[in-house]
Amino acid sequence: MLMVLLLAIGLRAEQVTVEDGVYTRAQAERSKVLWAKACASCHTLGDLSTSLKGPALSGDAFLTKWDGKTVFALAEGIQKTMPNDFSMELDAAQATDITALILQANGFPAGEKELAPGDSQKAITIIK
Ligand code: HEC
Repeated sequence: MLMVLLLAIGLRAEQVTVEDGVYTRAQAERSKVLWAKACASCHTLGDLSTSLKGPALSGDAFLTKWDGKTVFALAEGIQKTMPNDFSMELDAAQATDITALILQANGFPAGEKELAPGDSQKAITIIK
C-alpha cells in the first residue's frame, strides 16, 4: 500500500503536459510528408487537409476527447489502428512524429527536445 502511494506521488511529481514543449518544430515539419500520404485523405488537421471521412484531429471536440489522456495513448492508437484502410503500417517513430504534428496543429508549443517513441510518452498528459 505504502509502495503504491509513494509510486503515485513519484509519478505525479514528474507529470508533464503538452504545454511544456514536448516535441520539436522540425519533427512536426518532417511528418507532413507522411501525413499527406497516409492521413490527409480522411482527416482534417488545422489547415493541412479538409477531408471528413474520419474525425478532425484538431479543435475543441478532439481536445475534449483527449483531455487528461496521455500522449502515449494517442501515439499508440495511431500506430496500431491508422491508417484504417490498411494502406500502410506505421512504426512507433512515424506515429510519434505525426503525434508531434497533431500537437502543433492544436496550438501546443514546440520545444528543444524531440518527442521520443515509447514509454516516456506515458508521463506526458494531453490537456485542453
Ligand atoms: C481511410 C480513412 C482514414 C485514414 C487514411 C486515416 N484515418 Fe484516422 N480515423 C479514420 C476514422 C473513420 C476514424 C474514426 C473511427 C476509428 O477510430 O477507427 C479515425 C480515427 C482516428 C483518430 C482518433 C480520433 C479521435 O477523435 O480520437 C486518430 C488520432 C487518427 N484517426 C489518426 C490518423 C492518422 C495519424 C492517420 C495517418 C497515419 C490516419 N488517422 C489515417 C479514418 C482514417
